[in-house]
Formats: sequence, structure tokens, C-alpha cells
Amino acid sequence: MSETNPLNPAPTATGGNLFVRACLRQPVDRTPVWFLRQAGRYMQEYRDVRKHHTLVEICKQPDIAAEVTITAAEKLDVDAAIIFADLLLPLEPMGLDFEFQAGEGPVVHKPVRTTEDVKALRTDRAEDLIYVARAIEKVNAHFGGRLGMIGFCGAPYTLASYMIEGGGSRNYIHTKQMMYGNTAAWRELLDKIIVVLVEYCRQQVNAGADVIQIFDSWVGSLCPADYAEYAFAASERLVREVQAMGVPVIYFGVETASLLAPMAKTGADVIGVDWRTPIDEAWRAVGHGHAVQGNLDPITLFAPLDVLEQRVKEVLKSADNRPGHIFNLGHGIVPGTPVENVQAVVKMVREHSTRRAG
Ligand code: CP3
Repeated sequence: MSETNPLNPAPTATGGNLFVRACLRQPVDRTPVWFLRQAGRYMQEYRDVRKHHTLVEICKQPDIAAEVTITAAEKLDVDAAIIFADLLLPLEPMGLDFEFQAGEGPVVHKPVRTTEDVKALRTDRAEDLIYVARAIEKVNAHFGGRLGMIGFCGAPYTLASYMIEGGGSRNYIHTKQMMYGNTAAWRELLDKIIVVLVEYCRQQVNAGADVIQIFDSWVGSLCPADYAEYAFAASERLVREVQAMGVPVIYFGVETASLLAPMAKTGADVIGVDWRTPIDEAWRAVGHGHAVQGNLDPITLFAPLDVLEQRVKEVLKSADNRPGHIFNLGHGIVPGTPVENVQAVVKMVREHSTRRAG
């Protein structure tokens, strides 16, 4: 656990406190900012590390994972660092081998398709993931609380869909086949995922994560009725279990315009919003009892600076200086993004977010 209680951070304006205060909708003197996928291939320093190590090697070596996390956060001068890891790491201790194939994304060698496949998954080896917690400790030792420390995991639906499809998917046919056709196996799969994720998040919180972000990246493949029937309860359980550890939770999904209100019902402190829904509209949908995070279109980072600045101001205006806005993109930074434009956005957010008494 970090030294300050995240649920009652001191009102000083260091980036870390600023970020945690905003997650809790407490007043801040400027809008905190960080970026989804802030450490990644768009950054030369990351590409240099990748020349010598695979993605999974970086994740599993706390020194290197911490270095990659710290380098990106310092280079961008953001208010929070997200630990360098990957959504799929928990698959391995559950008994599923996977690899990242160049240009193809993740591939799970033996996807989960049957009741027997679900029954074979293990839930007793979450301890194997402790390398992520060790990396968090190193990042925290470096920043000493100056930046918010974000731990993360996938949401049950999104992780289940990776396990079942065996990788990224366009139509989620196998996932939905299990959901509709073998609902008992589907529920057992989500239950098993939750057991591992709760333990994994606990390790991260004990190591000093101030906030946990839950990525439901593929939840936009569900209509609201199916979200309610097949995904909501598992997400809600995970959110509540993590909050009981004493940290706020950010719950983020993509293509969620019709799911924002039900996602907020999980009780997550912060709802992450993709760029397709304006922040004011999203905020009305989730209710002002939640904070919101987002939501610049990541491809705006390729626009001329005057256009970019206009878009940054529009996001800030849409959030209207209410307590509880965290500036971010609507999804991750993509390869090829000019780093200097990302740095410029940080300065723009600092300049244009109105100062209020803290
Ligand atoms: O700075 C950060 O954001 C922390 C690092 C981070 C990575 N993955 C490292 C990574 C985070 C937060 C993730 C989460 C993650 N992983 C998500 C959820 C975020 C989202 O985008 O919605 C998802 C869906 C994954 C699964 C995953 N990992 C995919 C689909 C891919 C391949 C896609 C691609 O861009 O190639 C990855 C690989 C990956 N994970 C990279 C990074 C920096 C890029 C590939 C590399 O370095 O080889």
C-alpha cells in the first residue's frame, strides 16, 4: 500500500494527488492528464528496448518494465504512470499459452471452446504474476508519489473473449456461441477469471497502485441486453472487490455509447469514454456521481497543432470544469504518432484547464 491513503489524498497539487483526487471527484486546480498506451511503439526509447526484448520479456522483468513505464511518463510529463504490462498476462497462469505474433497481435494456441476446456483452467497460480507488482514497487520508488500509479487488468468479458477466440476478433462468433449456447460454461469461465484477477489486482494494490483501471476493450461488441445478461455481473463483482482493497477503479471500454449507463452501474469511480461520444453527453449518461476519463480521438494527434489545440479545448469545454474529469485519449496511442504532439497536448491541457481552489 502506498503511504498516503488513496481515498483521502492530501490536497497538495502534485500530479499523483491531482490524479487520485480527480478520480474521486474532489476539486483540483487543473485537469490531470495521461494517455492510454503512453509507453509503446510510437516512442523511440520503447522501440530501442524492444530491439533486445520481446513484449513478454519486458513485462516479466520488473527492472525493464519499470524503466519503460518511467521513461514514457517522464518524457510526456503526465500526471499518472500506467504500469507496463499486458492484458493477456493472466492467461498463462490459468494454463493458456499465447504469443504476440508480429503484425497479428496476440495468439492463444489452444483457445477455450468447451466445458472441459473451462474446467481445465487453473485459478491457483495468480502468484506467478507477482512480477507486475514488483515493477510497480520500482516505479513508485522512483516517483515517490509525485505521479499517480495506475495498475490494470482486463475485464472478465474482454479476457474471456480473447481466451475463446484465441486472439483478436471481428465478430466474436465463438464467444457468443458459448455465451448463448453453453451459458453454464460461460459463467464458470467468468468466475474463474475473476478469482485470478482479484488476486492479481490485490498484488498490484499492495505494491502501491493508487488506482486500478479495468480494460473492457471489446465490450462494444455487445448490445445492452447481452451486456446486462452476460457481462455486467462479472464486471460489477470485480469493480467492487477492487474497491474493497481501498483504491478507486476506472472502467474503460471502446464503442460503448449505448453501454455507458450500464457500465456506470458497476459502481466504478471513473468511466473511461471513447471519442465517439462527447464528454458532456457521456457524463449525463453515466451520471455526475461518477468521474469520467477521456476522450480525444487518438488520430487527432496526427493533425496540425492548431487543429489539435482546438480539439483539446473542445474536450475540456465539454467537461466544463466539473470535478472529476481526467484528460485522456478515447483509445490508445497508435504507432507512428508524433511524440512532440503528445507532449504538446499535455501543455495544452495544463494551459486551458481552468484553475480552481484545491
Ligand atoms: O503504456 C501503456 O498503456 C501500458 C502498456 C499496455 C500494453 N498493453 C503494452 C502493449 C497496456 C495498458 C496494454 C493493455 C492491452 N493489451 C489492451 C487493452 C488496451 C486497449 O487497447 O484497449 C489490449 C486489448 C491488449 C492486448 C494486446 N496487446 C493487443 C491487441 C496487442 C497487439 C496490438 C498492437 O498494437 O500490436 C498487444 C501488444 C502490446 N501490448 C503492445 C504494447 C506496447 C504493442 C506491441 C509490441 O510492443 O510488440
